[in-house]
Amino acid sequence: MSEHLLEINDLDVQFHTMDGTVHAVNGISLEIDPGETLGLVGETGAGKTTTALSILNLIQSPPGKIEHGEILFEGRNVLEMSEAELHAYRGSDVAMIFQDPMTALNPIYTVEYQIAEVIQIHEKVSKEEAIEKAREMLEFVGIPAERGCEYPHQFSGGMKQRVVIAMALACSPKLLLADEPTTALDVTIQAQVLDMMNDLKKKFNSAMLLITHDLGVVAETCDKVAIMYAGKIMEYGSLEDIFDHTAHPYTEGLFNSIPSLDEDVERLKPIRGLMPDPSHLPEGCAFNPRCPYADKLCQSAEAELQEVGPGHYCRCHHVNKGVPMYFPDEKGNELAYQHGLPVSNPGNDFLEKGQKGEKADE
Ligand SMILES: Nc1ncnc2c1ncn2[C@@H]1O[C@H](COP(=O)(O)OP(=O)(O)O)[C@@H](O)[C@H]1O
Ligand code: SF4
Ligand SMILES: [Mg+2]
Repeated sequence: MSEHLLEINDLDVQFHTMDGTVHAVNGISLEIDPGETLGLVGETGAGKTTTALSILNLIQSPPGKIEHGEILFEGRNVLEMSEAELHAYRGSDVAMIFQDPMTALNPIYTVEYQIAEVIQIHEKVSKEEAIEKAREMLEFVGIPAERGCEYPHQFSGGMKQRVVIAMALACSPKLLLADEPTTALDVTIQAQVLDMMNDLKKKFNSAMLLITHDLGVVAETCDKVAIMYAGKIMEYGSLEDIFDHTAHPYTEGLFNSIPSLDEDVERLKPIRGLMPDPSHLPEGCAFNPRCPYADKLCQSAEAELQEVGPGHYCRCHHVNKGVPMYFPDEKGNELAYQHGLPVSNPGNDFLEKGQKGEKADE
């Protein structure tokens, strides 16, 4: 039996469309332990939702297909479960909160009815008992039980998201998959919902995979962080590793794109360019067209995920080789950076001096 609650090994997911093959998830491995929160962070199109849907074995096929890999929940391979096993697994072992609460709620049923329905599917209780428990769950998420007989349109966005969270937690799942649970909410409500999720997680001791593009949300909630780009994990470590010992240029770029209250920064430095089209991924490191350190090696060979500190992994040729990290607003490189021109940097100089030169020219 696996020692982890969830273990994903070398997962590949593709979508076979008329326009070609979309390489959405490319060899992801990660683990989550009981009660732990892992943040899965990356821009739109990185493959985050596809990863979460794979955990539920809910990839729509066609066009989607899990091409390779293994997903173990308490040691059981989710991808080999029968329909009956999956039915029990979804909702009672693992539940998902979707980004948009409106798509998860049915406008023609009362909210207590919808929560009770989930409870009745997974627990042998009468309809009355299920309604009673649904009302308790509403109270847990800060909605008065008597409002349970109202319909979704009578609730604000934040309250609807609370209902969705109540629904996901109704059967006390061991793992909660929260896909951008606060993105659709305004900032003040976001903070309330995050606080509430933290409290509930402690109360039920649920583990959580928190999907977000917002590093602020990660700082508030996560124990570990996986930074995802073009279907791969680029950096993986504890919250402290990622925030205090950032190793990957993409992670650094994500931090540079968020405003800081402490520093007097005149202008943010967003990462230039866009996430590559996953049906035409670039050769070598998928981040190379946007990376200020990219060199010949990066353009031709993919970097392996390597351990850069205890339990801290990074997928970059330039890490751990004595190459100082710096950003291209120094030494007049900013202009070249903005225009997408190759930027001279210590990493390139270092490689050209031969420490790794033979490899670069291979
Ligand atoms: N059903 C689908 N058919 C075709 N392509 C899809 C489908 N679902 C997702 N994709 C593609 O897979 C890639 C990853 O998507 P997704 O997992 O939703 O990313 P994220 O959640 O990180 O924004 C995207 O390029 C997306 O367009
Ligand atoms: S491998 Fe090269 S292109 Fe990729 S992140 Fe590292 S320095 Fe940048
Ligand atoms: Mg998504």
